[in-house]
Amino acid sequence: MAKQGLVSTDNLMTHLLEVILSHLALTCALLLAALAAIRWYIRDSYKVDGFNQKHVFITGCDSGFGNLLARQLDGKGFPVMAACLTEKGASDLEAVTSPRLKTLLLNVTDSASIRRAVEFVSKEVGERGLWGLVNNAGRSVPIGPTEWMQLEDFTKVLDVNLMGVIEVTLKFLPLLKKAKGRVVNVASILGRLSLTGGGYCLSKWGVEAFSDSLRRDMQHFGIKVSIIEPGFFKTAVTRLDLIEADLRRLWTRLPRDVKDSYGDTYLADYVKAQGFSMSILCSPDISKVTWCMEHALASLFPRTRYAAGWDAKLFWIPLSYLPSFVSDFVINVLLPLPKALK
Ligand SMILES: *[C@@H]1O[C@H](CO)[C@@H](O)[C@H](O)[C@H]1NC(C)=O
Repeated sequence: MAKQGLVSTDNLMTHLLEVILSHLALTCALLLAALAAIRWYIRDSYKVDGFNQKHVFITGCDSGFGNLLARQLDGKGFPVMAACLTEKGASDLEAVTSPRLKTLLLNVTDSASIRRAVEFVSKEVGERGLWGLVNNAGRSVPIGPTEWMQLEDFTKVLDVNLMGVIEVTLKFLPLLKKAKGRVVNVASILGRLSLTGGGYCLSKWGVEAFSDSLRRDMQHFGIKVSIIEPGFFKTAVTRLDLIEADLRRLWTRLPRDVKDSYGDTYLADYVKAQGFSMSILCSPDISKVTWCMEHALASLFPRTRYAAGWDAKLFWIPLSYLPSFVSDFVINVLLPLPKALK
């Protein structure tokens, strides 16, 4: 009896010891994770110094992200060179910024225009080189059902959003190398998940791939490359009046039999569904995006990818990792069905 009692006390002790040890292990793991998170937050908050010596060149400053970023960086003391497509965009921006900010005209699909921009920037930065290149200029239309597109509808968007980014980057690399600078490329959640037809999603997938290659190839020279992936924000890219007017153009030129296969009400249904989704999804707070851009330029350890907006972080990017049948289902819910399938 006594012996049995002794054995069960032993068992109890062993059991207790096991419980204590496993709790200790769990506590240690949690503590380590917390320390790693704190270390990441501290590291993430380190800034480079001497903003007023760090020249930044931004494309697409007429409106939207580029315009706000130019004003924001100008306010922080960065010497900003803001490239606009239109004279009006440039003069409006100059009216609300310090004399330190310089504007210039740039059409990213025109090699001569890019060459002039490089000359301008080269004179401005001198021996210091260029600290930041922000490839922000972009367009969305024509965007819509793939079957409604012709080849030039794709190239119109690809020329600006992808070839433009590539040519501008290549031409500015020597100046960036001199400063061991940063490249910040504006992609999109549509560079992770292809939601619509037309050149836009293709161009943003291209920007993702180009940026990944560039980052790996240029890291040896001290150049850092960051990719911004905004969700849906209210800018010229998501302007429904422009997108809808162009959709009408695409629809009108379709042959009768193609229109019939969609049904007479399809365009109206499509425009309505798109308007409804955009009204829910589009955030007016574009500073979430320019915060990411500024972090990529001003922090000591810029991140490789920045998801901007709750929809990007919590919905689109997680969705992009799920199997295609899941994302196909979600995307199909957002758009109307052609007549034949109703
Ligand atoms: C930009 O340049 C292209 C190619 O030279 C030209 O076709 C286009 O009209 C220009 N766009 C603007 C807005 O000037």
